[in-house]
Amino acid sequence: MVLSTVLKTAILALAIVYGEAKATVDDQIVFLESSNSSLLRYPTQFTQNIVPKSIHSHNDYWRDVPLLTALSYGVGSVEADVWLDNGTLFVGHEPAALTPNRTFASLYVQPLLAILAGQNPRNAFTTNQTTPNGVWDTSSGTPLQLLVDIKTDGAATLPFVLKALEPLRSEGYLTTYANGILTTSAVTVVGTGNSPLEPIKALEPRDYFYDAPLTQLTDPSLNTTFDVNLSPLASTDYETAVGWTGIGGISDAQRANVTKFINDAHSLGIKARFWDTPGWPIQARNDVWQELLNDGADWLNADDLEAASQF
Ligand SMILES: *[C@@H]1O[C@H](CO)[C@@H](O)[C@H](O)[C@H]1NC(C)=O
Ligand SMILES: *[C@@H]1O[C@H](CO)[C@@H](O)[C@H](O)[C@H]1NC(C)=O
Ligand SMILES: *[C@@H]1O[C@H](CO)[C@@H](O)[C@H](O)[C@H]1NC(C)=O
Ligand SMILES: *[C@@H]1O[C@H](CO)[C@@H](O)[C@H](O)[C@H]1NC(C)=O
Ligand SMILES: *[C@@H]1O[C@H](CO)[C@@H](O)[C@H](O)[C@H]1NC(C)=O
Ligand SMILES: *[C@@H]1O[C@H](CO)[C@@H](O)[C@H](O)[C@H]1NC(C)=O
Repeated sequence: MVLSTVLKTAILALAIVYGEAKATVDDQIVFLESSNSSLLRYPTQFTQNIVPKSIHSHNDYWRDVPLLTALSYGVGSVEADVWLDNGTLFVGHEPAALTPNRTFASLYVQPLLAILAGQNPRNAFTTNQTTPNGVWDTSSGTPLQLLVDIKTDGAATLPFVLKALEPLRSEGYLTTYANGILTTSAVTVVGTGNSPLEPIKALEPRDYFYDAPLTQLTDPSLNTTFDVNLSPLASTDYETAVGWTGIGGISDAQRANVTKFINDAHSLGIKARFWDTPGWPIQARNDVWQELLNDGADWLNADDLEAASQF
């Protein structure tokens, strides 16, 4: 058989390389694995075999290790709550949870910079590459979505967030809208919480996007034409927009809300996310997730990443 001939040739070649023929394929694998052979390593294997999933890690800084735990499950979107204090952005759920060392730079910007440096080796093989690789080895063109939930005053905090992103920006790692063209890169940063709409609309170029209100995409009082160049994402509080607990059947009016909001987003090319979905009982949580996915929701908002990644 052709395949087994190829396999035998390959094993023979490796045996020649290592100067030792082994009895079985399993022996050969054990031998090579213990040999620390450079043939088994390559530069970009940080997230080897991890499939990215449309899961949003709500309050990501609460995971065992911020950012990295989410990446280990293939979670495609993470959220950091940031607080401006004395010129520095701290990350945490509430003021009492803040510490001097847990900053936006130390928990998110610097780790991302290190990961992306590893995913983008500069050598003779990569000189022609124009678009940086993202964090996913299995899908290098898929950006990681970073939600920045500004907790302090939006207009006052935004300039500090933009400044904190500079190390990623200067490496070309941020998805950017400039001169009418949206260029996707390794990280797409989306402002939520108190992130201020008008200053974000005014950014040119724009590499900090706006989490649009999913229930108000066509509301003229917002004085805004939402599109993907401003808002790759639109979100709403599930509790007030739908409210189905996941116990008993969903009502027609509740389902009509879900599909209307999702269709409004999709007609603008925007992805839809519902946050504040029930976390318990587990069956109810899963039934709500299933309903939202069936109706076309793009991101699963999750606190339990392991459960969501196996959903
Ligand atoms: C494996 O090889 C690499 C690169 O040559 C080297 O840096 C590392 O120390 C080696 N590890 C072991 C356990 O021999
Ligand atoms: C505010 O930041 C400055 C400069 O980083 C520092 O010298 C000062 O001690 C800080 N003040 C407080 C109250 O943290
Ligand atoms: C904060 O980080 C500095 C520098 O890495 C370290 O020396 C210090 O011990 C840390 N403080 C705390 C409370 O972890
Ligand atoms: C890069 O592009 C040049 C010019 O087209 C080509 O000669 C070279 O082989 C390419 N290098 C790689 C690693 O693909
Ligand atoms: C509407 O948006 C335009 C352009 O961004 C701005 O100049 C104007 O002040 C806005 N009006 C209101 C009522 O927000
Ligand atoms: C539908 O959404 C609107 C706007 O968020 C909300 O006021 C209304 O209560 C929702 N209806 C249901 C049945 O949840």
